Amino acid sequence: MSWGLISEMGHVAIQTTRLDASVFDATQVLGLRETDRENGTVYLAAADVHHELVYTESEHDGIDHIGLVAADDAALAEIRHRVDEAGFEIVSERPLEKGISEGFAFVGPEDFVYEIYLGMSRDVASNGGFGPDRFGHINLHPKNVEAYKDFLVEVLDFRISDIIGDDFAFFLRCNADHHGIALIAGRGSMHHHAWQGQSIVELGKLGDRLFRLGRRLVWGPVRHGAGHNIAAYFVEPTGGVIELYTDLEQIYDDSRPPVVWSMDDNRWFNRWGVYNGEDFRSHGTFPAPRTKK
Ligand SMILES: [Fe+2]
Repeated sequence: MSWGLISEMGHVAIQTTRLDASVFDATQVLGLRETDRENGTVYLAAADVHHELVYTESEHDGIDHIGLVAADDAALAEIRHRVDEAGFEIVSERPLEKGISEGFAFVGPEDFVYEIYLGMSRDVASNGGFGPDRFGHINLHPKNVEAYKDFLVEVLDFRISDIIGDDFAFFLRCNADHHGIALIAGRGSMHHHAWQGQSIVELGKLGDRLFRLGRRLVWGPVRHGAGHNIAAYFVEPTGGVIELYTDLEQIYDDSRPPVVWSMDDNRWFNRWGVYNGEDFRSHGTFPAPRTKK
């Protein structure tokens, strides 16, 4: 379901210095399936698509790009027009990786590369694993949150779901999911990418798998106020965070006004326990240098 130019969150592509460890976490801890592999690049998915997560072996740990699905051909053309008007640098006139028929890529604010595309090939999940249902959202920590919010609204046609303080954080949606991209003031990193499961039981099982490996969740299970999702988090080899969540608020009213939270009201962050945001937000992955991978 979509009301705007972007119909869904597509994928995240990450450069990693530890490809095997990253793929292990994605498959054996989170539960994604490997759909394809070529020249140091591994494609992974939970839903029935070619990829929702891509790891590429690199000298750097960093975000390669963020993939967003355009609603249709006209939406793709409109976004391209807006990107040109806004003066963003185009880095590719074609999709950046295999499995996608049409699209382009540009450098958005704070050096994050965005790929806007249509027509990803299907890959039907058939092995009945324990993984999540699909990719859900990303959480960025821009240095200039207000400007980043304006970019998402004015160029990519996102709607604002929740606001924390005057400009500390914004949660934005491109479809009924409460947020596809969340912005929290920070150091210019991607804090986490998030995957949707069906119940809190799956979050418990994630904690158990980590425990058996001698590792721990970094936070959760927790109930957020902004978005209402129950979430659990662990740190991946690149230094970023992976979230498994369930019960995210769905917003079917395109004109639903934003919920505004006072900076003093920590329930936006944690409805069940104490506030512990600083430690949690110290993790993250920065945009990879855009030289040769
Ligand atoms: Fe999240």
